[in-house]
Amino acid sequence: MTVAQSTSTLSAPTTATADLQLIAEQHITKGLGRLRNHVFAKGKGLRVTTSEGRELLDFTAGIGVTSLGHAHPDVTAAIVEQASSIIHVQCAIALSAPYVQLVESLLAMMPHPSLDNFFFWNSGSEAIEAAIKVARSKTKRNNIVVMQGGYHGRTAGAAGLTRSKTNFFAGTGPLMPCVYTTPFPYWHAMGVDKNTPEEVLVEQAITQLDNLLLQQTAPEDTAAIFLEPVIGEGGYVQAPTKFVEHLRKVCDKHGIILVADEIQTGFWRTGKAFAIEHTGVTPDIMVFAKGFANGMPISGIVSRKDILDGMPAGSLGGTYSGNVVACAAALATTRYMRSHDLGSAVLARAEQIRKGLLELQASKAGWIIEEVRVTGLMIALEFKDPRSRLTSGHHLREGYTLPAYINRQVQDAALDRGLLTLTTSIYPVLRMIPSLLVSEAEVDEMLAILRESVASVASSIEEAGKA
Ligand SMILES: Cc1ncc(COP(=O)(O)O)c(C=O)c1O
Repeated sequence: MTVAQSTSTLSAPTTATADLQLIAEQHITKGLGRLRNHVFAKGKGLRVTTSEGRELLDFTAGIGVTSLGHAHPDVTAAIVEQASSIIHVQCAIALSAPYVQLVESLLAMMPHPSLDNFFFWNSGSEAIEAAIKVARSKTKRNNIVVMQGGYHGRTAGAAGLTRSKTNFFAGTGPLMPCVYTTPFPYWHAMGVDKNTPEEVLVEQAITQLDNLLLQQTAPEDTAAIFLEPVIGEGGYVQAPTKFVEHLRKVCDKHGIILVADEIQTGFWRTGKAFAIEHTGVTPDIMVFAKGFANGMPISGIVSRKDILDGMPAGSLGGTYSGNVVACAAALATTRYMRSHDLGSAVLARAEQIRKGLLELQASKAGWIIEEVRVTGLMIALEFKDPRSRLTSGHHLREGYTLPAYINRQVQDAALDRGLLTLTTSIYPVLRMIPSLLVSEAEVDEMLAILRESVASVASSIEEAGKA
């Protein structure tokens, strides 16, 4: 009997891990990449338990989503209460209290009081689609400028803005036209030496943007510049303040809309409510998602009133947009965030992590690490890359070259030891983005596992080098 036949009769749902894996193998698209075929059964705080009873320390937070940890009691209670009352309030038919209360809660968190007009959608990509539409509608212009290495999602418009990796759209073109790419001031991406001073990187990025506006997209045709204040899929690199200030100046001069994509960086991820606050710049539109509902799917965009409010009625919306249970979860999450000093907690843990990772880099096995980058709880360990002409010390000895993607080997070694991490970018970067409530002891545990994992990968590379 095939899996399809066995599921055609109404028997109890499959529970055995091996059977679940078999059904997944046969019937769930391979278009979804997956780290491993483990089945997560439970999550509490930073601990996830698999269906086979294995406990993992989660330094991914489901890619920056469970910012208060898995199954936070305040959020779970809000979800249960709302789901017992009404689950779907279609936003074009009626208001719901959690939707409006969420607006009220978010208003108190905005980086600037001018950001006061909201629209909620489900995923980050959808909110990006909304930002594209709104920016074009407001300016009556078509063109959009994005950063080299930027990531804005996988739906058609959002993929058209994505410049971090071709596999998000390869073979699916033509992508949305009228999108222009400018360099992000990151040494690796700009093809310059790692020790290039930040001022030089910024100068070069500004020159390239100025050229772009002279050579490829005239300012009067340019609707928006999209920026991640910390480039995520591009490798966890913070945008230098001088660069963001320049973007603001260019936008002000030409009536271009500055869109901050805070989908990954928002809600205290970097130690401030929004990462753009590190620069003192106010965007015209801000897009957010992930961490503000602690696991429920909801995203949003916020702008000055004259931008979003000018949209024709019915031009924004969607069957599920701003789902009331997701709003209730976001309300509980944001209320928790507003009543706790998350900024100090994030910065304290970030310092502990930076110190630990720098010690690891300085240790015997640390020669495989190229760079440590820590922006709040966005943590990147970039390993040496044999494909790169820019990184130093590739060779153990004459004629021997390092393997590519050391980050994946370390990720695997860490998972074998019970630590969940992510990779990111086209460079060999291991990334971690844990719950904002990660404890000092959990950071120590992560560091101990990483030390062992890096040591085991380094020694296997050294052994191969001797062969
Ligand atoms: C900066 C950024 N923009 C957009 C997205 C897309 O969001 P979603 O996956 O919810 O569509 C992501 C998701 O990782 C992101 O990190």
